[in-house]
Amino acid sequence: MENVVVNVNGVIHVFSSLQREIEAPQAVVSVFDRSFLYGDSLYEVFRSHEGVFLQLDEHLERLYRSAALCRMRVSQDPGSLKAQIAKTFAEFQKGAQKGQQDAYCRLVLTRGVGRIGFGEECVLTPTQIIIIVQKVELPTEAQIEKGLHLQISKRIRNRPEALDPAMKSGNYLNSLLAYLEAAAENIDDKFDDALLCNGDGHITEGTTFNIFYVKRGILVTPPLDIGILEGTTRRAVLEVARQLSIPIREVRFPKERLYKADEVFATSTTKDIFPVTRLDQKKIGAGKPGEISLKLRKALQAALIESAKKMGRH
Ligand code: PDD
Repeated sequence: MENVVVNVNGVIHVFSSLQREIEAPQAVVSVFDRSFLYGDSLYEVFRSHEGVFLQLDEHLERLYRSAALCRMRVSQDPGSLKAQIAKTFAEFQKGAQKGQQDAYCRLVLTRGVGRIGFGEECVLTPTQIIIIVQKVELPTEAQIEKGLHLQISKRIRNRPEALDPAMKSGNYLNSLLAYLEAAAENIDDKFDDALLCNGDGHITEGTTFNIFYVKRGILVTPPLDIGILEGTTRRAVLEVARQLSIPIREVRFPKERLYKADEVFATSTTKDIFPVTRLDQKKIGAGKPGEISLKLRKALQAALIESAKKMGRH
């Protein structure tokens, strides 16, 4: 049985994953919390490998960038957030079985608790933090071999002028609806997830992941200014591709380019590189994970572990 550890403003709660529904009501946020009233929150997801969180500094930097984009003054400094993350993780490690200690960590930051309303005077508390640590679930080798089947959603990605996707806010309804609509399609080979275009018909990103394709050995991904989240994995993949001398283009492209690509893959903290083998009802390339995708996946994992080891030595 695995533990789920929840830290609510510094107070630790431990549940067994099987009892989550029964015991979780002990770990609560106020009904006057702005995350509940307005979706007024930010979050980050990162994972650990052999006791060290991968790209933790990058995730915390993105959290503060998100805060700036949504005019949230974060009451906690990075050092105190790191201390709370470490405290929660230590509790998780105590209860984890040997070989099962690699963790998923979700850090949620809300603007605070207060009166209903938008004015500054309505926010009565400092920003609130919730940290959830549980066992990480990464794709299995069989899932990687099969690859993802994605739908290109009819729903468009939020325009940066409306709700900037560069900000990892707690409002994921745009992504959630694209996912639910893809999952509800009544077809034999079900969609696993969805990709979204912008209003001009250019591919942006997936519901919770960035997207890349390979054509004639060139690695292509949408540019940041199209309106996407700058994935920590996206950044690491570009770095690894540079080291492997794989040519890179960050350009806008329509969905037809993906249909005709040799390889397509998704990236995120919980996926690393996940090959996409089917898009809408079409096969990508040979309908199997591509050579460059798998080579990059291996190199990415090695690079992430190497940098985690360096962090662990500090
Ligand atoms: N999602 N784009 C979106 C919209 C995302 O939500 C995410 C991350 C990414 C990839 O970012 P990174 O490589 O830093 O994980 C891209 C996380 C995993 C989530 O919401 O669970």
